[in-house]
Parts: sequence; structure tokens; C-alpha cells
Amino acid sequence: MRFSKDLVEEIRSRNDIVELIGMYVNLKRAGSNFSGLCPYHSEKSPSFTVFPATQSFYCFGCGAGGDAITFAMRSENLDYPGAVEFLAKRAGITIPTDEKEERGIGRQRIYEMNLAAAKYFRNCLFDEKIGRVGMEYLAGKRKLPLVIIKRFGLGFAPDGFGGLTDHMKRLGFTEEELITGFLCGKSQKTGKVYDYFRNRVIFPIINTSGDIIGFGGRVMDDSKPKYLNSSDTPGFKKSRNLFALNYGKNHCSERLILCEGYMDVIACHAAGFENAVATLGTALTSEQARLMAKHTKQVIIAYDSDEAGQNATRKAIRMLTEVGLEVRVLHMEGAKDPDEYIKKYGADSFRALLDAGKTGFEFKLDATLEKHDISTADGKIKASRELCEYISEVNSGVEREVYIAITAKRLGLSEDGIKNDVASIRKKKMVEYHAGVSRQARNDAMGIGDRINSDGIKNIKARTAEEAIIGLLLLFDEYRAAVISKKVELDGEDFFSEFHKKVFETVCSLEGDGEYDFSLLGQFFSPDEMGRLEGLIQKRRELTENSLEVLRGCAEALRQEKQLSGQETIDAIQLLLASKREAKK
Ligand code: GTP
Ligand code: MN
Repeated sequence: MRFSKDLVEEIRSRNDIVELIGMYVNLKRAGSNFSGLCPYHSEKSPSFTVFPATQSFYCFGCGAGGDAITFAMRSENLDYPGAVEFLAKRAGITIPTDEKEERGIGRQRIYEMNLAAAKYFRNCLFDEKIGRVGMEYLAGKRKLPLVIIKRFGLGFAPDGFGGLTDHMKRLGFTEEELITGFLCGKSQKTGKVYDYFRNRVIFPIINTSGDIIGFGGRVMDDSKPKYLNSSDTPGFKKSRNLFALNYGKNHCSERLILCEGYMDVIACHAAGFENAVATLGTALTSEQARLMAKHTKQVIIAYDSDEAGQNATRKAIRMLTEVGLEVRVLHMEGAKDPDEYIKKYGADSFRALLDAGKTGFEFKLDATLEKHDISTADGKIKASRELCEYISEVNSGVEREVYIAITAKRLGLSEDGIKNDVASIRKKKMVEYHAGVSRQARNDAMGIGDRINSDGIKNIKARTAEEAIIGLLLLFDEYRAAVISKKVELDGEDFFSEFHKKVFETVCSLEGDGEYDFSLLGQFFSPDEMGRLEGLIQKRRELTENSLEVLRGCAEALRQEKQLSGQETIDAIQLLLASKREAKK
């Protein structure tokens, strides 16, 4: 899979990065650049910068960065070819077929395959004989109206090993494609390919663009596992999508209801609550929280009322609050989840619950008061400690004041006392935070915990030189030419770090073919690595002292370090030999 320099140049010139990123991030002009709140980490003051001159972006907070392609990869959750395709489509450019082919199974192909499979599952469900058990379960046992079954595209996978496989093969899908798309498995023993979903009702998972990205399959009795879910494929990351957001997004200007299960979401929609969504069988991720924040202002958490659900609720409150969402928690009594509640008490009663949803603080308050016996001194102290801890995390001063007043009243303590406790916890946290920040800064400077350049820590001098070299090579055409033409002597083997070596060799190989373009590096390096490269460019750009001599100096420094470290090995071996001789004596 290799795209041409011409193609990425055209894509870049037709997708202005400020306009592209502006669709996702609220950008404000800052000098000749633009800045905004980083979409990839939570922050309150903007450190995310877009550079129109170089058509690149960089977050000085989290190190995310790159070009339009990297941005599309991150924001639309695509691989490199997918992002190229996405931007090309956006600008009305057709990608020459020889650049499209030879790149394995693309997203579009997965979507095509899933759509065909969904049709098969649906036809099975609606077949009077084959689908009877499935329909009895969905319409009979779970009481889903036919319109809802159709609306969600529910289906049925019959109990056999080859039904779907044979059908899909007839449609021209290969075994490899079926396995990659998680529709089929391959027997370790016989090597035979078989249907992955068997004797299960099927829930297609549809993204906000209307593509089927995967499936969930539920058993119709109490056997285990209750659900099978597609694993991540080229078109599908569980952590970045939400079930039913494709419908919910049109009904959520006010709020979204976040449920635990597919069945809860479907029951909500059936009862007229079309703003219900769920995660895809995993705990809520910060990406999903941000995705919700993109669509709405308030989220009502409607998780199961069992202990697992309540624990998950606590975590979700934090994550959702962190991205600036207003959070409420639904308190259901007499039912374990929204599905059961609506069936038992009806839609009107559920609506009343939604409107009476507790705020995150109220949820915490009630849970704490239930846990501790506040008629005893000990219980009162423990409850107060827990609540002060919670309040200390609240950023708004007004909100803190309100919560302090409520807490004081409910515990029968003075407001001043609570206020002082909250203040001292906040102060302590501030100190810890700053200590953490400076520790982090120290570690960063030394390269400790650097996941991208993990062996940069081995030799700090070398790392500094290598970073300068990479920055210069990425920034200036003439330095790349100088290295290729051997005007500056530098070789992959001169590098200490594997990451820098790979960057150097990739840049040289592209440059040697006359095909160097920063955007093309994206097919060899992950978005995180691209962010690092963008960071090295930014660092270098700040320095005015950029010359061939600096480049030569750095290359020389590397060779010196190599020699020094080479001597060390000899010394170590000599030492070893000497000690052996010593032992022999
Ligand atoms: P009902 O119990 O039939 O109402 O279904 P539910 O969708 O509400 O499921 P439940 O509350 O048990 O689980 C919530 C979500 O967790 C489900 O929708 C699935 O996404 C996921 N889940 C539940 N059980 C399993 C399992 O056995 N395997 C996997 N991978 N995911 C599961
Ligand atoms: Mn459930």
C-alpha cells in the first residue's frame, strides 16, 4: 500500500486544514495560526494549534499532531488508506484504482459485507420457518413491536455452521474477508470456515454515517455467553461508537439517555425515548464521552440498578463531567433496568423519572448517607469526609458552595466546618498536582515513560542530537538532499533509538525515490508517532539556528557517542576477562 506524492499533495491542497479541523473544533485566530480546545484530551485553556502555513496541527498539551490525514485518522477513526479516501471524497477527488488496490480489506468493503450479512440475518428472522424461534423471542418474550424490530434492523442467525458463510461466498466475499469482518471463524482443527453467530438474535451496530460496523448476537435463553459482539475491525472501534447514536443524534439537542444494554436502548426507543444510546459491551471510554459531548449538553445515566451498574455509574459520572457534560443519574426502584422499568410501570412513569433524575452530587449524597449511619459520630465523620472529597473535585465555586450548604444541612454540621475541610483537601490536591506535573516534566525531559521513543532514555545526549536531526530533515528539503547526496554523512546505524532510526530510514527512502512528502509518512507511522514528528518540527522551528553545520555537528555527536559506548562494551568485556583470569589464579 503506497500512495503517491502527487495524490497526497492534491488531497492536502483541496482540504484546507483550518476549514477541515474547524468542522470538529471551535477555532479562534491567534496571530497567523488558529487555536482551540484539544479534541483529544480534556483541557480548559486551548493548547491545540492549527498552522495554516504548513497545513499542520499540534497540541502542546498532549502531543497529538500531524497533517490533515492524521487528523482524519484520529477524528473519523480511520486507518491511513481510509483517511486518504475520506479526504479525497470530501474534496471530490477520485483515487486512481491502482493506488486503491493491494491494500487488504478496506472499510468500505467491510460495510458492504456487513450490509449483505444484515440482510441475510433479517431475511432469516422474517422467514416463518427458519426465524420462528427468533421472532418468538423478540416479539413474543421481549414484546418488541414489529416497527421497532424493523427500525433497528434486527435479525436472526440460525443454528448451523455454514448458512451465512455459504451465502456470503456466493455473493463473492472471500473467506479472508469474512474472517476479518468477524462474521466467520476458522476451525483450528479442520481449517474450515464457519458462521460466528449461531442460534442468536442479531443486533446490527450502525454508526452515525449509516454504515453497519458490526453486530451483537444474543442467546434466547440463559446460556452463556449471553452476547457475542464483533471485535474491532478496520471499520469498527467499540471504544469510539455508541449503539443507536445514529437515531439518537437527531433527538438529543437537550439530552441523551445512556443505558447499559442494547435491549434497554431498544425498549426506550419503543416507548418513544429516541435519545437512548449504549456502549458496545464495554465500559464507557473517554472517546465516547467526547462523542456525546459533540451531540448534546446533558447525559442521563440509566445503568442497571445492581452493584455493577452503580459502580459503572460512578465512573461514568466522572468521565462525562470531565468533558463538560451536565450529568444526571436515573434512580429506578422496583426494576433492574430501563427495559424492565418501562414494561412494569409504563412510559409516562419513566418520563417522570427522567425529569426527576438526580445530579451527580445528589447521587453521591444519597449513596453516602445510605452507606454510613450518621446518627453515630463515626458515621457522620466518615460521610462528611467522603462528601468533602467529592465536592473538592468540583471546579465551579458556585456549585461547591451549593453542595457545601446541602451537605452541612443533611449532616447537621456547620457550613464553615465543611467549607474548611473542602478547602484543605483542594489545597492538598493542588500541591500533589503540581508535584505530579513537575515530576512529569522531569521524566519527560529524561525520556522516562516515553512510549513512542522507548529507548530514547538510554542515551540523552544522543537523543537530543537525533531529535535535532529529525527536526531538520523534516523541516528542510535541502538537508534531506544533503543526506541523500552524502554531503552530510549520516547512516541509519548511527542512530541509538529504533524509532529515530526508522524515521530516518523512511524519510531517506522516500526522498531517494523523489517521493518524500510529510503526509506520506502517515502510512508508516501511527497517529501518535506522527504527533511526535510534528512536535520535533515545532521544536526545531522555534530555533533560529538551523544550518547544514548544525546537522553535521549532530551527526558527528552521534558518532562520538557511538564510539564512547563502543569503548564501554570493550571495557566491560575486558573486565570480565580479567576477573576470570583472577578467578583462575
Ligand atoms: P437483557 O438482559 O436481555 O435485557 O439484555 P441487555 O442488552 O440489557 O444486556 P445486559 O444488561 O446483560 O448487558 C449490557 C450489555 O453488556 C449488553 O448489551 C452487551 O453489550 C454487553 N454484554 C452482556 N453480556 C455479555 C457477554 O456475555 N459478552 C459480551 N461480549 N458482552 C456482553
Ligand atoms: Mn440489561
